Amino acid sequence: MKKHLPSPLVFILLLLIPRDTHQYACDETNPSTSDNPFCNTSLPYADRAKDLVSRLTLQEKVQQLVNGARGISRLGVPAYEWWSEALHGVSNTGPGVHFNATVPGATSFPAVILSAASFNASLWLELGRVVSTEARAMYNGGLAGLTFWSPNVNVFRDPRWGRGQETPGEDPLVVSTYAVNYVKGLQEIGDEQGNSSSTDQRLKVASCCKHYTAYDIDNWKGVDRFHFDAQVTPQDMEDTFQPPFKSCVEEGHVSSVMCSYNRVNGIPTCADPDLLKGTIRGQWGLDGFVSLP
Ligand SMILES: *[C@@H]1O[C@H](CO)[C@@H](O)[C@H](O)[C@H]1NC(C)=O
Ligand SMILES: *[C@@H]1O[C@H](CO)[C@@H](O)[C@H](O)[C@H]1NC(C)=O
Ligand SMILES: *[C@@H]1O[C@H](CO)[C@@H](O)[C@H](O)[C@H]1NC(C)=O
Ligand SMILES: *[C@@H]1O[C@H](CO)[C@@H](O)[C@H](O)[C@H]1NC(C)=O
Repeated sequence: MKKHLPSPLVFILLLLIPRDTHQYACDETNPSTSDNPFCNTSLPYADRAKDLVSRLTLQEKVQQLVNGARGISRLGVPAYEWWSEALHGVSNTGPGVHFNATVPGATSFPAVILSAASFNASLWLELGRVVSTEARAMYNGGLAGLTFWSPNVNVFRDPRWGRGQETPGEDPLVVSTYAVNYVKGLQEIGDEQGNSSSTDQRLKVASCCKHYTAYDIDNWKGVDRFHFDAQVTPQDMEDTFQPPFKSCVEEGHVSSVMCSYNRVNGIPTCADPDLLKGTIRGQWGLDGFVSLP
């Protein structure tokens, strides 16, 4: 069943399960801000998000558009680091994650290309569940964010790329299946038996399918990812590069998609209205956000 999540960035924060410590918005010990409608858990998420956005100045809105989002103290909204990583375990490659002497690390599962080689979809789901449980625990202790820029679902077609081990490999169907299961494992809230409900709008953590699209070169003989212009035929787009992202959005209900560094057929993917507004939002129905790489 398709979930109807609201779209702009700030909506995601409201969808995540509320916490009751002083670091978080809508803290009951701060009635001057927690009385606002956006803190009222009886109201629909969309109404709460609309209320919050309506209270922001233009400057405050702009300050929310980078990964290191500024806090808005007059509304009791804390600063937030949107960039956490959990490719195969919660990782401090993103600035939102911190380990300390008490929590020196999280479980690090094998590199994705190895887990993918098990061809075991329920295992991929289970990996995601374990990772998101550790992620929530770290968030509760103030050591991680709730928005994880994982998984990497680029189809690995060029062995010169150097990031192939991050991906579930070269086969669009396997990559798609991995993507859906890992995203669900991260995002869906299971019952005590581990069954998740497709009608539950809450997110355990938010996941991100990256990098959209046709990205599999970093730096090769003077061509780097920031300047690479991938020449891709319409058929190869449909057959190879797009299926994992389509599955992420339509079946995994992923909260966000990250556009890629490169151009595709001359247009930077992050500035291509056809790929973004047309395909992701229009055709596939992404109701989350698009992140820049
Ligand atoms: C929260 O919203 C509900 C539904 O509109 C309303 O009945 C209630 O009075 C609100 N609570 C507060 C504290 O404003
Ligand atoms: C697939 O993974 C599950 C764990 O999710 C495990 O119980 C099962 O034995 C695995 N299947 C095979 C064929 O290895
Ligand atoms: C590490 O962080 C946890 C969670 O906030 C905290 O309980 C613990 O005291 C910290 N450990 C150290 C050594 O600072
Ligand atoms: C999910 O629920 C079904 C039916 O309620 C049950 O048969 C199944 O064992 C559950 N799955 C898990 C992983 O607990």
